[in-house]
Amino acid sequence: SSNPAAELVPSRPTIHVAPGSDPSLMDSVHVRLDTARHGPLAMVVVGASGDLAKKKTFPAIFSLFYHDLLPDDFVVYGFARRAMSDEAFREMILGTLTCRVIDGARCAERMDAFLPRCFYHMGTYDDPETFATLDAAIVDNFERRLPAGSDPPNRLFYLAVPPSVFAPSAEGVNTAARAKGNGWTRVVVEKPFGRDSASYGVLRSALGAVLSEDEIYRIDHYCGKELVQNLMTLRFANAVFEPIWNRHHIESVQIVFKEPFGVEGRAGYFDNIGIVRDIMQNHLLQVFALLAMEPPVSLHAEDIRNEKVKLLRSVMPLAATDFALGQYEATPEGKPGYTDDEGVPAGSRTPTFASCVLKVNNARWAGVPILIKAGKALDERVAEVRVQFKPVAGDIFGGRPARALANNELVIRVQPDEAIYMRIVSKVPGLTSRMEEARLNLFYRHAWEESKDIPDAYERLILDVIQGEKSLFIRDDEVEIAWDLFTPALQGMEAPDSEVVPDGTPAGSIPSAARLPPDFYS
Ligand code: NDP
Ligand code: BG6
Repeated sequence: SSNPAAELVPSRPTIHVAPGSDPSLMDSVHVRLDTARHGPLAMVVVGASGDLAKKKTFPAIFSLFYHDLLPDDFVVYGFARRAMSDEAFREMILGTLTCRVIDGARCAERMDAFLPRCFYHMGTYDDPETFATLDAAIVDNFERRLPAGSDPPNRLFYLAVPPSVFAPSAEGVNTAARAKGNGWTRVVVEKPFGRDSASYGVLRSALGAVLSEDEIYRIDHYCGKELVQNLMTLRFANAVFEPIWNRHHIESVQIVFKEPFGVEGRAGYFDNIGIVRDIMQNHLLQVFALLAMEPPVSLHAEDIRNEKVKLLRSVMPLAATDFALGQYEATPEGKPGYTDDEGVPAGSRTPTFASCVLKVNNARWAGVPILIKAGKALDERVAEVRVQFKPVAGDIFGGRPARALANNELVIRVQPDEAIYMRIVSKVPGLTSRMEEARLNLFYRHAWEESKDIPDAYERLILDVIQGEKSLFIRDDEVEIAWDLFTPALQGMEAPDSEVVPDGTPAGSIPSAARLPPDFYS
């Protein structure tokens, strides 16, 4: 194609098409990515008995296998403290198969081919000896049996464990279970990466002492969501948006996350974390970064991440008083409140809702309020971005457009029901000159056959780890800046005498704190 923008769209730098094949095949989701070239692979899920491993990691790994996207030679090892036989482990994986391929044509047949490649190893996260026995098992069951002339085998460790055992697990990997010879070792770490600047510093040095930055893959699964991946394409592969993507045309931006359910069983984790650390400091900040950064020099990971870091450094410091907080309460209809949950201490002040305005001190965004808000146990499930444009200048319609719709708005709905649409004012057809709000719609499920089968974010991300593609992973200095931005505010709101405390709001409704701050547009 002679259109350079069109070339930007599908060509993630990681998709290798075999020499001589037609590069247009890269458009097809059915193309076999050239994963075999990555050599034999052992994937170890550390914390294999846990919630994340069952809900996300195993289903995603199986889905990649189902779609022929794993290397030809691979094994999966579950690692955790409890005793479990290989058979029981395979049963467990079978029972957790919640992935999108469950109704796939060959699902049962592919599962039969997958399970014999899965093994379990009992171990303790802070005992290097158990990583040594894991290493021996991988060599004996897999690497020693590879055909002569195979590439050096690689190892991927997925740390699906509580943050308290990230560092000892990484140490065990380094001391006793690294890939041999020229094979690579990659370690996936899940958020939360610490709980503030200081604890991130400790975690960073502990991981940095045993792994290189190249080997660490920090996951923020929002970066793997289809619509979040599309933000760069939307902005930089279309000529229409970039000229108006600035303070001269945009009045405000809202980035919103809402869930209709509470902590339900995760209170032990959540009460110590709160909504600001759980959703805002990572998921919403990543969406903001991709939405607001300058165009990167190229699509390579370092170029993209340089731009994200530059943007985050331009955000003005946040104080506790910049936040509105909420906590859901029991309703007369019997919906439990946050403090009714077993794991929540009475009188907990942990916010389950928060909103604040980011102000960016750069030429593109100065003066444009960027509202981010997140909450649990609200009225609906939605994650979306709303870019609101300034009203039209002049008024040849006698105020009528403003009555139909004050401002054009571009909505990027990440979930559910992925969509991008623009709210515009349009003449209603007919002999009158009536104006109404209408929508220019890109509803994924109408636009693409493929949208019936959008991969889970974890599939995209695990595939990228195998391919060594880092653009969707969070770099060390990004996490550091994200914590530097939120830590003073968190310290302020968590101080014993803090006046910024959550407002109680009935579960299932929107907190009054969700109202726009009075100076939002000033
Ligand atoms: P779990 O609490 O389910 O823990 C995972 C496993 O770790 C457990 O099965 C247990 O295995 C072991 N474990 C639990 N507590 C301890 C402890 N105190 N010391 C040592 N081992 C322990 O965690 P999740 O699966 O929910 O989360 C794993 C990681 O992923 C965390 O960092 C979490 O923040 C992150 N995450 C989780 C999400 C989710 O939806 N669950 C979403 C996004 C991120 P055993 O006792 O068998 O060894
Ligand atoms: C996780 C949070 O990171 O993201 C959870 O820890 C939250 O509290 C979840 O429910 C939301 O993810 P998704 O993909 O369901 O929007």
